[in-house]
Amino acid sequence: MKTIAVINQKGGTGKTTTAVNLAAACARRGYWTLLVDLDPQSSAAHSFGLDPASAPATLSKAILEDRPLVEAIRTTNTAGVEVVLGGPELATLELRIKNPLTAVRVLARLLQPVRPAYDLCVLDAPPALSLMFTNALSAADGLLVPVTPSFLSAKGLEMLFTTIEEARADLAIEPQLLGIVLTMIDRRLSLDKEVEGSLRQVFGAKVLDQVVRQNVRLKEAPGHFRSIFAHAPNSSGAEDYDAVAVETLARMGLPAQAPQKEEAPGLSSELREPPELPQSESQAPKRAGEGTAEAAAVALAG
Ligand SMILES: Nc1ncnc2c1ncn2[C@@H]1O[C@H](COP(=O)(O)OP(=O)(O)O)[C@@H](O)[C@H]1O
Ligand SMILES: [Mg+2]
Repeated sequence: MKTIAVINQKGGTGKTTTAVNLAAACARRGYWTLLVDLDPQSSAAHSFGLDPASAPATLSKAILEDRPLVEAIRTTNTAGVEVVLGGPELATLELRIKNPLTAVRVLARLLQPVRPAYDLCVLDAPPALSLMFTNALSAADGLLVPVTPSFLSAKGLEMLFTTIEEARADLAIEPQLLGIVLTMIDRRLSLDKEVEGSLRQVFGAKVLDQVVRQNVRLKEAPGHFRSIFAHAPNSSGAEDYDAVAVETLARMGLPAQAPQKEEAPGLSSELREPPELPQSESQAPKRAGEGTAEAAAVALAG
């Protein structure tokens, strides 16, 4: 399982939109994907019609009560995407966590047992330099940074990269910067073109070639509890996020289409509740059997 953290300490840069639709795009391309909601506001879970506030198990409860993460995993209406519910208690985790020494790596530790069951893990990080932000850094193999076109975003990026460098040194972690993805771009606006130009000049190849254009369909989709591919498959949003997924996979050294699996990975269905909404995306990978973790590991390795 490769882990991609979608991060930016600034709110409203398109992190959740990117995490949700990147996960959906990768699932359509055959990658069995776990989306982890690290924001106490639970926007990623809400985007699939899931409500952590009323859920018996969440990531926060797994952390605070030392329970297995699998209890907090839910299927979604998008085949191939499963979600770890974060929970509103993530907001006050810093104050309540029992062992501050291991707190920055708790997410990576909890993810360990489910790793054989998924090809990819996408982390939707909170808009703050909080404990869960640090956890996203320490659990990630690669970082994807959504940025909106404004002159302040470049300043914000400097701060973000300084924080990442400090975390790298302090925590001895090696997350790779996969790229900066420009979101909500309107190339008809001279300001957007100017900011895009200057970000490409400063950050060079770190900026993904593919941008995400402004598209009202992307704004609507969460209200219908579905990804852009189910909501508006012919929209520019669907086109852009599929291309962002392909470029991101390539930057991780992964093919655009996941290798065919003899036995689809996935955790035992007895551990889960049924999906809350009907299946609506049929191109995604199908679960072939119940697949033990070992069988899944073999399938993934092959
Ligand atoms: N490409 C886009 N075009 C139009 N609206 C967008 C686009 N990307 C995100 N949005 C909207 O912008 C708002 C902020 O996006 P969101 O993904 O929630 O950001 P973050 O998670 O960084 O706070 C949301 O209302 C979202 O629907
Ligand atoms: Mg968000």
